[in-house]
Amino acid sequence: MARRTIVALPGDGIGKTVLEQALRVLDASGFEADYVFGDIGWEFWCREGNPLPGRTLDLIRKHKIALFGAITSKPNEEAKAELAPELQGQGYVYSSPIVGLRQKFDLDICVRPCRSYKGNPLNFIRRGRGGAVEEPNVDVVIFRQNTECLYSGVEWTNPPENVYNAFMTHPKFVENFGDVPVAELSISTRIFTRKATERILLAAFEHALNNNYSSVTVCEKPNVIRETSGLMWKLAKEIQKNKYPSIKLLNTNIDAQMMWLTKNPEDYGVIVAGNMFGDIASDAFAGLIGGLGFACSAQFSGDGIAVFEPTHGSAPKYAGYEVPIVNPIAMIESSCMMLDYINEKEIAGKIRKAIAEVILEGKVRTYDMMKMQGSPDVVRNGAASTIQMTDEIISKISS
Ligand code: NAI
Ligand code: MG
Repeated sequence: MARRTIVALPGDGIGKTVLEQALRVLDASGFEADYVFGDIGWEFWCREGNPLPGRTLDLIRKHKIALFGAITSKPNEEAKAELAPELQGQGYVYSSPIVGLRQKFDLDICVRPCRSYKGNPLNFIRRGRGGAVEEPNVDVVIFRQNTECLYSGVEWTNPPENVYNAFMTHPKFVENFGDVPVAELSISTRIFTRKATERILLAAFEHALNNNYSSVTVCEKPNVIRETSGLMWKLAKEIQKNKYPSIKLLNTNIDAQMMWLTKNPEDYGVIVAGNMFGDIASDAFAGLIGGLGFACSAQFSGDGIAVFEPTHGSAPKYAGYEVPIVNPIAMIESSCMMLDYINEKEIAGKIRKAIAEVILEGKVRTYDMMKMQGSPDVVRNGAASTIQMTDEIISKISS
């Protein structure tokens, strides 16, 4: 097979650290690729007034597959203050480059697997009968619609007259908000389209079918949010009936799901939700398998562009340590998702097996796995550094 080119987007803070380590693991695994590095993040905002330069978009357009670390976002006032002096006062407005990437390339399908590794001291445990301590095996994959819902940016405070007038045509608006002064109204819209909703549902069912999950759970709130959640539930029923009759379709409300997930997480397989509830559900399930150090993700567009990234951010308080301490597993797992996607499943399996062995042995653990407060001292106190953890994974791949 032709040698691949992967766009590497380190970004900011610990994004740079973990991406570097993931590339070491990929090299050690025998995966042959060239990496071209793309500019993204705070540095480029400060220097150029754009955290997602056009040249980076071109690279992604050309090579189609990107591994992304993490970026730093800061509130508007801070962002403005940190712009290079010659760019100040010229109307530059900061917006998150990862949200920008999702929108520019229509990366509408976000996949977030949450699988517990045996021996991870951060795994969720619960009390069973007679006070027994049980450690349920969590194997859940969340399909989050990634571009619509409350994240689409269609919102107003003090809405313009035509928008206000349009809302006033809705009887419920008149009844509940008709006497609120316009200047005191803040409105964020929750928009679902049939096309994107169908795409995320189909992706979820297809994943369930191909990976032996017996059920797909729609996690929304159709009994209250009747139009948008209702659309997803209605389409899910049609798709299940017409195309995936062998897969069980379940319906949980997001609030109840947050309760059920600590009672019976082993009962869930594939979960599908809109942007907001998918974000919530994926963080909640990630908490059962060790938290941000273990939470990986993939994002796909309909036309072959895919970006793989850990769910965590740039953790600025741990960036720039002389000896880095953060857990590289979420980023390495995200690279495994990339390998699956490009049909290098054997290599992905080899890396996952190595991670599983390291965790099961329990000799090498980063500070989060030892429940330590992060600080430069953790390595002296017995935690593995980011590099030691990566070294250990590499040694298992090679052995
Ligand atoms: P964060 O995910 O960067 O960090 C929160 C905390 O989680 C850290 O302080 C640390 O205790 C822990 N943590 C994160 N990654 C870890 C790892 N690999 N190993 C061990 N512990 C880890 O979220 P926070 O602090 O809310 O945001 C920091 C910056 O990151 C902000 O500027 C935010 O906008 C940005 N961000 C970027 C994201 C992205 O690039 N996709 C996602 C989330 C936040
Ligand atoms: Mg989130």
